[in-house]
Amino acid sequence: MTQSAPSVDWAALREAARAAMSRAYAPYSGYPVGVAALVDDGRTVTGCNVENASYGIGLCAECGLVSQLQNSGGGRLTHFTCVDGKGDILVPCGRCRQLLYEFGGPDLLLETPAGILPLERMLPQAFGPEHLAK
Ligand code: THU
Repeated sequence: MTQSAPSVDWAALREAARAAMSRAYAPYSGYPVGVAALVDDGRTVTGCNVENASYGIGLCAECGLVSQLQNSGGGRLTHFTCVDGKGDILVPCGRCRQLLYEFGGPDLLLETPAGILPLERMLPQAFGPEHLAK
């Protein structure tokens, strides 16, 4: 039986995340991270972690991604992937799940070691913009 072509090229998105990871600035942790996401208008946005001598103010890769999203026209994130320094799929940290929720909502699809999952599975009962609107 012929399988239909996947509508989203996760491998290409992962490659974009790996390219971003290669540009990470992580001299303190030695743990480079790269992320990439598709936007609902077809754009791809990426980010890498950028650490700081004041350790606690280092920026996760997702910070760069949402900044690029907003500064390149906004829109909604639809598909997201994150890789470590080996290029392997990585789960985003808790704080970054919240960053992703703001711009992707519960339906944002994440590539995880356990498969493709909606953000609502990775951040159950999320607090978000809808609460402030009540
Ligand atoms: N890091 C990210 O960039 N994103 C994540 O979701 C997980 C953690 C970075 C932060 C720090 O620069 C390094 O990984 C080690 O924690």
